[in-house]
Amino acid sequence: MTEVSVLGATGMVGQRFVSLLANHPFFRIAALFASEKRKGLKYGETVNWVLEEDIPESVKNIELRALGEEVPTKIVFSALPASIAGGIEKELAENGHYVFSNASAHRYDEFVPIIVPEVNPGHFEAVKYQNTKGFIITNPNCSTAGIVIPLKAIKDTLGIKKLVVFTMQAVSGAGYPGVPSLGIIDNIIPHIEKEEDKIKTETRKILGDFSGKFEYADFKVEARCNRVPVRNGHTEVLFIETDKKADVSELKEILKNFSALPQKLNLPTAPKNPIIVKDDKFRPQPVLDRNAGKGMAVTVGNIRKADIFDFTLTVLSHNTIRGAAGGSVLNAELFLKDGKLEV
Ligand SMILES: NC(=O)c1ccc[n+]([C@@H]2O[C@H](COP(=O)([O-])OP(=O)(O)OC[C@H]3O[C@@H](n4cnc5c(N)ncnc54)[C@H](OP(=O)(O)O)[C@@H]3O)[C@@H](O)[C@H]2O)c1
Repeated sequence: MTEVSVLGATGMVGQRFVSLLANHPFFRIAALFASEKRKGLKYGETVNWVLEEDIPESVKNIELRALGEEVPTKIVFSALPASIAGGIEKELAENGHYVFSNASAHRYDEFVPIIVPEVNPGHFEAVKYQNTKGFIITNPNCSTAGIVIPLKAIKDTLGIKKLVVFTMQAVSGAGYPGVPSLGIIDNIIPHIEKEEDKIKTETRKILGDFSGKFEYADFKVEARCNRVPVRNGHTEVLFIETDKKADVSELKEILKNFSALPQKLNLPTAPKNPIIVKDDKFRPQPVLDRNAGKGMAVTVGNIRKADIFDFTLTVLSHNTIRGAAGGSVLNAELFLKDGKLEV
């Protein structure tokens, strides 16, 4: 068993980490961190637990640490707000820790990869250029995490010329307590700060290449983001212009048959089928599809030819599992199993 620590363990993403790591076959939680006000308090007594499953027994009595205290493990999962993550993650990497971060603070750094194991495991190579004893690996923001998997399948077979993304994002994406209830019940908020730029940049970085430096994918991306009154699960409508023309049935086959390294290695958090294709035009729906593949599969439906661009389709993924903690745990599994980590 490899011991791990979680920073930001009491937040929306931190709770997912705790839930995914508590009974993990490779990892054992050794330390949990939250803000100064919880220092020394028992996790089970102070956390405002919001997940469906109970708080794992094994973590209830762990005493929370504050930043600045010793981080006792080589592997560290970070679910800190970006404003705080920047400095601490860098310091940890300099001191030899392997940081798997959900925060945006380092995603656009010259040698920090944004990894989705089904899409760009080769980008791990970039950490060799970080010039620190340890490293930082990030995963994408929650709306990018879901779409890059079907986009990878499409890019490799048909090529992508242009992409338009329209999101309907769950409230949990804003953390806890996040958006005030009076702001979101019976409402839609047509802007999420910095989210559109994140989609535009991260999609092209992840689908690009790395050979000594990152070469961003050369297709154009436009995005519009909306917060909707859904608890978990981001729904995104894509319009895609492809290089090679295909019909809807061919596209469905491409998506259904997509499988990648995490599936080949049979990693514990990898879904058997990373993309689930629905023929029902009324799917995907957050309530019905967000937990597909234990929250790690991406569901694609309502696929049709578009009069403008070539295809339009709807993608749904779980924002705190595939879009955050689950994606990060899968990154760590891949690098352990692939023999890239000495821990
Ligand atoms: N929510 C999502 O769907 C999602 C998806 C992808 C990425 N992310 C990213 O993941 C990160 C965490 O997001 P979240 O939604 O889990 O946020 P959150 O619910 O607000 O949780 C933040 C966590 O950070 C801790 N924290 C806050 N200030 C701190 C400080 N000064 N020192 C130490 N710890 C501090 C909090 O501890 P206390 O409880 O003690 O305050 C809490 O554990 C963010 O960078 C976010 O952008 C979120």
